[in-house]
Amino acid sequence: MEHRDLGRTGLRVPVVGMGTWHTFNVRGEAARQNARAVVDMAFNVGINFFDSSPMYGEAERVLGETLQGRRERALVATKVWASTRSEAKSQVKRALAFFGDYIDLYQIHNLLNWRGHLLMLERLRNAGQVRAIGATHYSSAAFAELRQVMQTGRITAIQIPYNPLEREVEREILPLASDLGLGVVVMRPFAEGELMSRIPSEVELAPLQPFEVTTWSQALLKWILSDPRCHVTIPATRHPDHIAENAAAGEPPWFGAEERAFVARLAKRHS
Ligand SMILES: NC(=O)c1ccc[n+]([C@@H]2O[C@H](COP(=O)([O-])OP(=O)(O)OC[C@H]3O[C@@H](n4cnc5c(N)ncnc54)[C@H](OP(=O)(O)O)[C@@H]3O)[C@@H](O)[C@H]2O)c1
Repeated sequence: MEHRDLGRTGLRVPVVGMGTWHTFNVRGEAARQNARAVVDMAFNVGINFFDSSPMYGEAERVLGETLQGRRERALVATKVWASTRSEAKSQVKRALAFFGDYIDLYQIHNLLNWRGHLLMLERLRNAGQVRAIGATHYSSAAFAELRQVMQTGRITAIQIPYNPLEREVEREILPLASDLGLGVVVMRPFAEGELMSRIPSEVELAPLQPFEVTTWSQALLKWILSDPRCHVTIPATRHPDHIAENAAAGEPPWFGAEERAFVARLAKRHS
């Protein structure tokens, strides 16, 4: 697995990480055992960057449980998602309890009350409980505000959607992140699964074989990671075998402009 510096965060991340929205919002012993199997596989194949949020129901708790006894081997990115300062404080208290009293990357989810939360996160960073601060938004309608946050100089990473069907970040967000030296975490690599609903055939994917791409998920992940401005992408899955398949996309050779255009055409044809 290739590793990249996540901008100026000081974190060195595997290029393929893992998200937990829906997939880790589970209850019951069988589902929790499955979550543990997913995380076991993740560690086995070199994925140790995990993204969560209090917005994802049980996900932070379940992720914390699966990391028991191996927390120090993981990089945990979670979020504060609160309109009020007191709710933000309770979220932080819970997250610190789930994740061994420190968070590697604490992000402001959907920019909700970001002015209010930045100071709190900066204090936690100064106290050594947060290693880096970031901000996320899923919607291009909020990118003007995201640019404003990026330009404060108070965050060192962003999390944004990027896949062949959602390319808005190419216009201003990725260039600005690169200019400012910010880490870029790419959410929604498969457009929340939409890109996996109609999959190109083996014959269609054959031109990508020289790039060690054998499946559509690998083509999509490599499409993202071949842009050096993107440092880590976080596909979510309930299946350990999908974790292994995704991790295999985290190695060079990377695509050039021609292969990226080819994958984008396939994505459009199958969407
Ligand atoms: N979506 C958002 O608005 C948003 C916002 C903020 C943060 N995030 C973060 O970004 C993460 C990723 O985004 P996402 O969860 O929305 O969607 P995604 O990762 O684009 O897609 C997830 C879907 O892809 C499928 N999948 C994963 N690997 C596969 C494989 N190898 N083959 C076939 N199908 C595969 C999963 O199904 P299986 O379980 O069947 O594999 C799942 O249904 C989230 O979990 C969260 O941590 C998302």
